Formats: sequence, C-alpha cells, structure tokens
Amino acid sequence: MQILGIETSCDETAAGVVDDGVRVVSNVVASQVEVHASYGGVVPELASREHEVNLVPVVREALAAGGGWANVEALAVTVGPGLQGSLLVGLTFAKAVAYAAGRPLYRVNHLEAHLAALRLLEEPPEPPFVALLATGGHTALYDVAAWGEYRLLGETRDDAVGEAFDKVARLLGLPYPGGPPLERAAAEADPTFDFPRPMARKGLALSFAGLKTAVAVKVKELGAAEAARRRAELAASFQEAAVEVLAIKAARACRRVGRERLAVVGGVAANRRLRERVAAAAAEVYWPPLELCGDNGAMTAAAGFLAAARGEIVAPEADPEPALALG
Ligand code: KG4
Ligand code: ZN
Repeated sequence: MQILGIETSCDETAAGVVDDGVRVVSNVVASQVEVHASYGGVVPELASREHEVNLVPVVREALAAGGGWANVEALAVTVGPGLQGSLLVGLTFAKAVAYAAGRPLYRVNHLEAHLAALRLLEEPPEPPFVALLATGGHTALYDVAAWGEYRLLGETRDDAVGEAFDKVARLLGLPYPGGPPLERAAAEADPTFDFPRPMARKGLALSFAGLKTAVAVKVKELGAAEAARRRAELAASFQEAAVEVLAIKAARACRRVGRERLAVVGGVAANRRLRERVAAAAAEVYWPPLELCGDNGAMTAAAGFLAAARGEIVAPEADPEPALALG
C-alpha cells in the first residue's frame, strides 16, 4: 500500500510517495531558497504564497514518478509544528484532494516525520534508541522506546542549532540557509577560536544563543576586514563548538537511559562534522540519507503509516497546529 505525503510546514513545498511505509517511490521538493534569500530568513507570508504556487506541480510530479493514483491508498499531511500560514496551505489542499479522491487523510507531526525518515533506511534502527532531532526550529533529545512512544529528554532553552548556523552564517556574510555554506567555509580552516560549549558540563538541556553571541562579539572585536579574512576559521570554530555540544549531549542521553543506539535526524544531520563527532556517541549510530535529512514529503508519508496504524485521521474541521510538540 502507498501513501502520498504532503509537507508545507516551513519553506519547502514537498510531496512523496512511500510504499508499505518503508520504500521511497518518489520524493519531490521545491525549495523556496531564492524567494527568501535576500531577506536572510523565511518570510512567512511569502512562504504561504509560494506553497500555493508550487503545491499542484509538486504533487503531480510525485504522483507521476510513481504509478499515479492507482496504488495510492491514503494521504498524509503535516499539521504542525510550523508556520501557521504555510501549514494551512498544505492542510487545506490535502483535505480537498483526499475528499475528491475518496481516500483517508492521516495527520502527521513534523517532528515524528523527521524521525520516520529513519524508517526509509536500508537498515533502520530498531527501537529502543535515543534520537537527536536537530533542525532550524527544534533541537531536542528523545528516548524512542517504540515507534510512536517518544519521551523528551532535553531540548534547547533558546535557539535551535540550525537557527544558530543560519544566524552565524549571516554574521559571516554567507547566504541563507546558512548550514551548508557555513559547513563548506569551515572545511577550509582549523577551529582556532575557542568559543564556549554552552551547558556542556551537565544535564541534557541545550542552548545556542550564547554561542551565537560569542561569535558576534568576536566578529566585532576583529573588525569587518579581519573577520572577513578569517571567515573560514570563525566558521570552523563555531561549527566545532556546536557539534561538540550535540555529541556530548547525545552520548550522555544514551548513557542516562541505557540505550546503545543513537539516531540523528533533521536538517542539521546533513552536517559531516556532526556525523564524525557523534559516530562515537553510542555503539550504533544512524542518520537518514542526505536527501531525507531536510524537509521532504517521503518522510511525511513514512510518518503517515505510523499515524494510519494509530487511526489518526484528519478531521474535516481540523486546524493547523503551529506549536505541536512531540512526546
Ligand atoms: O529540518 P530542516 O530542513 O527544517 C526544519 O524543520 O527546520 O532544517 C533546516 C535547518 C536550517 O537551519 C539549515 O541551515 C540547517 O538545517 N542545515 C545545516 C546543514 N544543512 C542544513 N546545518 C548545518 N550543516 C548542514 N550541512
Ligand atoms: Zn523540518
């Protein structure tokens, strides 16, 4: 059985078809990077409008890449968390299509969808495991006792780590979204600046606002010309501090709940230095393939299977849930 997943929680318009909850049939993502780039971040109203323009072609392409509607038994859509307007576009569209096609529509929590991306691996991690979710909006550690059973172990008290990458990239004059260009810049130098490892010594709570500020202070101290000249060093030093804290916290979480498996998911899980640093955090470490780390429709469809098994149908009157939590 196939599910068509629709994802519009932030600035990617995405649709994907997944077979039996584990095999990707198609995965189409229309990125809005160019629309938001000159603003240095996502402009919610522009994101909603772009979703309206992109949804029909993206869904058509995702269906065409599979076998069309023939094998699609159900739809799944992200109801939250995310931007209210962006969620509303996808949710309204999915309701209409499900109604017209006479198929059930299942509700997807975007955070569970990032975890469900792991189910699309050739060899997915078997629960129980600890999951580090690292995106532009969230940074949290969960104990995954079973699929659908999530316990929040710790989360950021301020900025998400992806948000910190984006803000530091902006400080360094790199384009939005900042994660990928910052990682590329970092690869060209050693982490010579000693930035703080916020809250690393104890507990499972995280914080990235202070680290971002430390970079801002250093940039100011160096002056524009010197900061530009040493941009790669600044990028490498920030990245090293951020991924080291994540690796320390992930390892601590595994020890604390007695898990031997760790999974790292979300847009920031694409970062190679993070992957290197967390590799030793547990006996087995998993991450989704690169194209399933950032927002996409295949992971939404994969989560749709979990929702379907729980009978979580989207009610006709359902509203978006911008602040939806997990666990
Ligand atoms: O999961 P995602 O696509 O969207 C949210 O649900 O937020 O994550 C986007 C975030 C952005 O902040 C982006 O800069 C960051 O993931 N990101 C990275 C990398 N690729 C994307 N951060 C660090 N290194 C990367 N290679
Ligand atoms: Zn996401």
